[in-house]
Amino acid sequence: MSFVVAIDGPAAAGKGTISRAVAERFGLAHLDTGLLYRAVGAKVLAGGDPVDVARALDPVDLENDDLRTPAVAQAASEVAVIPQVRRALVDFQRAFACRAGGAVLDGRDIGTVICPDADAKLFITASPECRAARRHKELMDRGMDHTFENVLADVRARDARDSDRATAPLIPASDAVQIDTSDLTIDAAVAQAVAVVAAARQQKG
Ligand code: C5P
Repeated sequence: MSFVVAIDGPAAAGKGTISRAVAERFGLAHLDTGLLYRAVGAKVLAGGDPVDVARALDPVDLENDDLRTPAVAQAASEVAVIPQVRRALVDFQRAFACRAGGAVLDGRDIGTVICPDADAKLFITASPECRAARRHKELMDRGMDHTFENVLADVRARDARDSDRATAPLIPASDAVQIDTSDLTIDAAVAQAVAVVAAARQQKG
């Protein structure tokens, strides 16, 4: 059965963790669409042209180990404002969503632009301070030395760029269920998401 779950939200709100857990729980394939923009951003930092790079992107590019740095995240959100870059990445995402057995896609515009007919839509949020604290801990755990203030400034800059851009801005789809994870444990957030998806699956029959 084809079954699509769209999970959107700002950076470090918990959508990656929730998406992986939902995919595993329901046996669905998972695509972190941020990796597409990060892969383009990384190649642009290395001197490539954003639109050419996006048009030539290969799935192997998503396996680059260096895509999780703050510099690549900022570069990703800069290339993500370019309409031709976004257009070049649509087909890959929609093909992934259509795969037999169903899929979970997480990003910024999955429920609004990529999969407006998704069977279940979630919008995951948390306060900027809370998201920055999580990202800061993650970076420290990986041995990357950044101050909390810098990480918070990065989160705010990315939020502003993602929300204010003209094409596919970060906004909840009107039919998305919103989950604020600021004061939730991971288990509690995952449980809420799983309940929404289980209800949608039951409704589809
Ligand atoms: O989700 P992640 O933080 O890896 O995404 C990196 C950047 O890619 C985001 O800040 C956003 O600008 C862009 N992005 C997007 N649309 C998506 C996924 C990510 O614009 N569907």
